[in-house]
Amino acid sequence: MLEFKTTSPEETFAFGQCLAKVLSAGQVVCLVGDLGAGKTLLVQGMAAGLDIQDAINSPTFTILNVYEASFPVYHFDLYRLEDAAELYDIGFYEYTEGDGLSIIEWPDKFPDQLPDEYLWIEINSDFVNNGGKVNERVIRISALGTAYEHICEELKQICPFLP
Ligand SMILES: Nc1ncnc2c1ncn2[C@@H]1O[C@H](COP(=O)(O)OP(=O)(O)O)[C@@H](O)[C@H]1O
Ligand SMILES: [Mg+2]
Repeated sequence: MLEFKTTSPEETFAFGQCLAKVLSAGQVVCLVGDLGAGKTLLVQGMAAGLDIQDAINSPTFTILNVYEASFPVYHFDLYRLEDAAELYDIGFYEYTEGDGLSIIEWPDKFPDQLPDEYLWIEINSDFVNNGGKVNERVIRISALGTAYEHICEELKQICPFLP
């Protein structure tokens, strides 16, 4: 497990830019954190790192937003889905097994439906109650699968926000 710490929204955005540098087409990133943790901000940083020009919003109501980088980027928010059959309807399995980069918010709603391998990122939510340090975020990253273990190694080399 890797741990990073950011102390401002700008740093979390910059962390997202770093993260984008080590990701590629066909990969899956799961992103967990309470409301206000900074998930959208992190995805905005990732999008900037991938040179995506569009405005990035949480796909809370659309469930999926698709962006074009040098490969497609699928940004999911599973929060409003109620059962796994809906994943099938939206093409979740085709996308996550496809050629794009999939970023999945609220993956913990459907732990059994996730691909075999992925990068798992948690942004802490202690910020509400950690002695008034409201801008501090701990970002914990773990890898499932060797490809993602390599990504963690690379991230450790290039990313400055180690605690
Ligand atoms: N270090 C930090 N990293 C990310 N967001 C931060 C940080 N410090 C403060 N914030 C604020 O927290 C909020 C995160 O919002 P957002 O990215 O929409 O969260 P989520 O998508 O997880 O609900 C923003 O208002 C941002 O300015
Ligand atoms: Mg959000």
